[in-house]
Amino acid sequence: VIGAFFLIKFIFLNDTASEKTTDISELAARKALPLPPLLEDLNPDPNQAEFHLTAQKGKLEILDGVESHTLGYNGNYLGPVLRVREGEKVKVKMKNDLDEATTLHLHGLRVDGEMDGGPHSGIKPGERWEPEFTINQPAATLWYHPHMMEKTAKQVYEGLAGLIYIEDENSDQLAIPKEYGVNDFPIIIQDRQLDASGSMEYDPGMNDVMMGLYGDTYLVNGAIKPYLEVPKGIVRLRLLNGSNGRTYHFELSNRSEFYQIASDGGLLEEPVEMTTLRQSPAERAEVLVDFSKFKTGDTVSLVDVSTDAKIELMEFVVTNKESGVNEIPTQLAKISHYDPNNAVKTRQFVMSGVGATLTINDKTMDMTRIDEEVKWNDTEIWEVTNQRTGIKGGMAHPFHLHGVQFQVIDRDGEKPPENETGWKDTILIQPGETVRIITSFKNKGIFMYHCHILEHEDAGMMGQYEVK
Ligand code: C2O
Ligand code: CU
Ligand code: CU
Repeated sequence: VIGAFFLIKFIFLNDTASEKTTDISELAARKALPLPPLLEDLNPDPNQAEFHLTAQKGKLEILDGVESHTLGYNGNYLGPVLRVREGEKVKVKMKNDLDEATTLHLHGLRVDGEMDGGPHSGIKPGERWEPEFTINQPAATLWYHPHMMEKTAKQVYEGLAGLIYIEDENSDQLAIPKEYGVNDFPIIIQDRQLDASGSMEYDPGMNDVMMGLYGDTYLVNGAIKPYLEVPKGIVRLRLLNGSNGRTYHFELSNRSEFYQIASDGGLLEEPVEMTTLRQSPAERAEVLVDFSKFKTGDTVSLVDVSTDAKIELMEFVVTNKESGVNEIPTQLAKISHYDPNNAVKTRQFVMSGVGATLTINDKTMDMTRIDEEVKWNDTEIWEVTNQRTGIKGGMAHPFHLHGVQFQVIDRDGEKPPENETGWKDTILIQPGETVRIITSFKNKGIFMYHCHILEHEDAGMMGQYEVK
């Protein structure tokens, strides 16, 4: 059926001005973009939510006929989308059906340390963990993933990751696409290394520890080069770089512009027009793409241009449906900006990597050591420097802070690019660069800060701060 569908489409494609011609055999073998399910909220009260998640073992066929051992939440790879609202009281019942301990880290969520699911919240095989918290932040696309000491890279690689959508009154009334799987799509990009048999076992070498894992196979929501049928008009893509080590530079294959409307922690003040989006591991970006100028059957691809080889990640196939949204909004959200003059303290962090020795302030992670003590409710500036080290002049590190969303004051004294002027929880820092971020610490407990290249995190490029 799919083959016939594409045969028709292919004939049609040939006489339209499509952006690229695709080999039919390649198209026929393609899978539709897998859409993670929206997880059912088991609490009927509209102000409360209860979600059940089970971390479990599974199998994934990346190449036809070759199975990889994978992990997933409530399924064989990745996990469902948890959709919540600002102000909602949420309970998660998380069960660990793996053979090993895991945690459920809520990346980007402003919750107390005990609910954050960091390395202190290990869940043994067969056990449960049931955090409860109130959503206390604006509409955003966040994510969840495991965070066991020295096991994060492997468990995320094997498939443990999922998205959290927060909605609020502002996002309700904005005229942006919001129909899940219709005009609003989750797009999780990951690179994986297939072995000789075609399966994706996690087997990092020394170079992967030093640089972070770079795989040769690109998955979007768990599939190689999938296609996605999109309506005409404006479509919203919620991009998560769920890779362990790789930073992408996304473009559309026809180099057409798109508009970033949200960064890690929520909507920007205004859409930012761009043709290339850089995204380091763990960063999220919501973008609007205008497919109204395309004809039915036209295709355009999402490509990564971070290397000389332009890598096609997935393909959009424009249908004759309408998205219902035909304009890029001019205003998105009001963001109150921190005044650096109100910061009571500035702390310095130096990220450094020499060979496989990866440190922050010359230390590697120690679970029994609190590196920074922060006073509750204080506003602070964190000045993070990526020390230029090594023969090649060093590498970029994405710095992530748990428990908060922050704002970027400057990069080497210069204003950050427009798409970094909203809420962030992960920020890529180039070799030799110093980035100043500012936030106030409104949740108590023990939290991590670390490089989000997962091989670096597992090698100890992480520290702990305690808010009290
Ligand atoms: Cu996304 Cu400490 O992690
Ligand atoms: Cu996190
Ligand atoms: Cu790093």
